[in-house]
Amino acid sequence: MSRRLATEIAGLKLANPTMLAAGVLGLTGSSLRKVVEAGAGAVVTKSLGLKPREGYSNPTVVQVDCGLLNAMGLPNPGVSHFGEEMREVKETGVPIIVSIYGFSSEEFAKAAEVAVNVGADALELNVSCPHVEETGAEIGSDPELVTEVVRKVKNKVDKPVFVKLTPNVANIVEVAKAAVETGAEAITAINTVRAMAIEIETTRPLLANKIGGLSGPAIKPIAVRCVYEIYREVDVPVIGCGGITDWRDAVEFMLAGASAVQIGTAIAFKGLEVFKSVTRGIDAYVRKKGFGSVKDIVGLAQNF
Ligand SMILES: Cc1cc2nc3c(=O)[nH]c(=O)nc-3n(C[C@H](O)[C@H](O)[C@H](O)COP(=O)(O)O)c2cc1C
Repeated sequence: MSRRLATEIAGLKLANPTMLAAGVLGLTGSSLRKVVEAGAGAVVTKSLGLKPREGYSNPTVVQVDCGLLNAMGLPNPGVSHFGEEMREVKETGVPIIVSIYGFSSEEFAKAAEVAVNVGADALELNVSCPHVEETGAEIGSDPELVTEVVRKVKNKVDKPVFVKLTPNVANIVEVAKAAVETGAEAITAINTVRAMAIEIETTRPLLANKIGGLSGPAIKPIAVRCVYEIYREVDVPVIGCGGITDWRDAVEFMLAGASAVQIGTAIAFKGLEVFKSVTRGIDAYVRKKGFGSVKDIVGLAQNF
């Protein structure tokens, strides 16, 4: 792998700037390991809470014209049960970011502590899930609540803390600033966009939960705008996420200000090959433009 691709996020060393997005193939050690073997520079687990959670009944994921619509309801085995899964992927040496959620700042802090005990190299706080009440976006739309969550987590753990933001707010920059001012070491933007779809013959909403989150190509321009706006106002790395399906998308996010990119939905359509094709494409672009490192293209679109 080319040295041009190496980068660093909050002290974590990545061989390339691609990462697995939370919630897609991140529920077991063996699936995370497959993603590492496919070439991801880092992986993020499914969001884990203090207690096991069943999630919603089916259908929880449906395909729509422009991507996927999901309302899984945060199903997960609980963070303490994840230790065994972690062992399998820990051996690879690739950074593992554990995504956590909680229904209060105390729960976030406790989950963070457990995640670090089971081997997390960093934490990603999911304050952006759009379809579970009293957590996720309900926290992430209020800068004061985000401040409280980040403060409590930072007091409990000494691993880097990333905060994953929702685009379903009037001003995402305010929320990013609140997180960074309280000590977040990176911002991930964005989680899914609140959305729904209805089947016209049966007249029923397609998701059992009716409303869910849209991912995939439809949300890319929203995500690029969020990264662009956040990058100008914070001095920590921004991790871009939302609709990346090929290397051009990844480069676009980096030009907007992303130091790394996360890929989720594209795996469902293109398979794990997507990691290699995206990294190869980024490398060729950086070389063609005459730069020595992928870091050199971060934020270039801000110059206009
Ligand atoms: C089926 C599915 C499950 C997801 N679960 C989570 C999750 O547990 N935690 C989280 O922070 N984001 C979750 N997401 C959101 C993704 O991590 C990502 O932010 C979003 O899908 C946009 O990226 P993409 O277009 O590359 O998929 C999920 C997305 C999908 C499609």
